[in-house]
Amino acid sequence: MNLSLFLAAFCLGIASATPKHDQNLDTKWYQWKSMHRRLYGSNEEGWRRAVWEKNMKMIEMHNGEYSLGRHGFTMKMNAFGDMTNEEFRQVMNGFQSSKHKKGKMFQELLFFKPPASVNWTEKGYVTPVKNQGQCGSCWAFSATGALEGQMFKKTGKLISLSEQNLVDCSHPQGNQGCNGGLMDFAFQYVKENKGLDSEKSYPYEGQDGKCKYNPEYAVANDTGFVDIPPREKSLLKAVASVGPISAAMDASHTSFQFYESGIYYEPNCSSKDLDHGILIVGYGTDGNGPDDKYWLVKNSWGTQWGAEGFVKIARDRDNHCGLATAASYPIV
Ligand SMILES: *[C@@H]1O[C@H](CO)[C@@H](O)[C@H](O)[C@H]1NC(C)=O
Ligand SMILES: *[C@@H]1O[C@H](CO)[C@@H](O)[C@H](O)[C@H]1NC(C)=O
Ligand SMILES: *[C@@H]1O[C@H](CO)[C@@H](O)[C@H](O)[C@H]1NC(C)=O
Repeated sequence: MNLSLFLAAFCLGIASATPKHDQNLDTKWYQWKSMHRRLYGSNEEGWRRAVWEKNMKMIEMHNGEYSLGRHGFTMKMNAFGDMTNEEFRQVMNGFQSSKHKKGKMFQELLFFKPPASVNWTEKGYVTPVKNQGQCGSCWAFSATGALEGQMFKKTGKLISLSEQNLVDCSHPQGNQGCNGGLMDFAFQYVKENKGLDSEKSYPYEGQDGKCKYNPEYAVANDTGFVDIPPREKSLLKAVASVGPISAAMDASHTSFQFYESGIYYEPNCSSKDLDHGILIVGYGTDGNGPDDKYWLVKNSWGTQWGAEGFVKIARDRDNHCGLATAASYPIV
């Protein structure tokens, strides 16, 4: 047998079994892995690197297009870097839009003229950005956000509320812990339970557990909730007059997974297929163009994601990503 031919075949075999990586990205990959404390088995590392590299290149391409004026927002690498979009959707999104609970309908003040911009964070209504981890509990974070705001409005005290209390205890109302839920079910739980514990007394664990509600540490309450008609005009009046509002959106796209700053607009975004619960904390305008209006949104993926954990989403562009489709707030 011709030895050199055998060696060539053997080398080829190895080369095709190991995915080819861009060696220019080696340093960035090691830095990313150590920053996010990733430890892979030897079989996993190769394809995780390939996923990460694909995401990295997609982000660079998007930002290149941004500098040519083709997009209104930038993207960046983050903790979701080694996740395929399918994995990201499974883990991070927990809003169950197929279910529904009817609340009171929002009564619009007909002659109320909302101001040009609102930022409830400025007014002390909003706690620091939290992190849901790898648990589909977005709905709980959205609900505590709205309740924290309404409690502040009523008492003048901003107290961080317990998502874990909601994750562990609101199954009877229809929620499924880390497998998803609805903000309205959470508001219903607080009403029926006659209270919700503070974050401090019932800290977040990011996994399903037994209900450990303790009425001694209850610091919030509600008597039900209000649903906002599915129009951006109504949502505007609600955000301006009520405070931070719970809302659902389509957050399933890679562009959202790696959002950094600017006004988020995704041509493929749905206003019906909603999979993520967030908190609308205001709105405004960044320029003079028709596409410069935004909703100011607090997310629950930590401060490393997006703009310090916040995102601006296109406003008055046909209910973009469905922010106005299922918005509500608790009655306090
Ligand atoms: C909203 O207010 C907060 C707190 O003052 C500030 O940090 C943030 O930049 C404001 N956001 C916008 C979009 O104006
Ligand atoms: C919440 O409201 C109910 C009904 O008014 C009341 O019985 C309960 O004590 C309240 N809970 C708290 C923590 O204030
Ligand atoms: C939108 O969806 C289509 C079909 O799934 C896909 O081919 C296209 O790349 C998507 N566009 C963007 C901007 O993601």
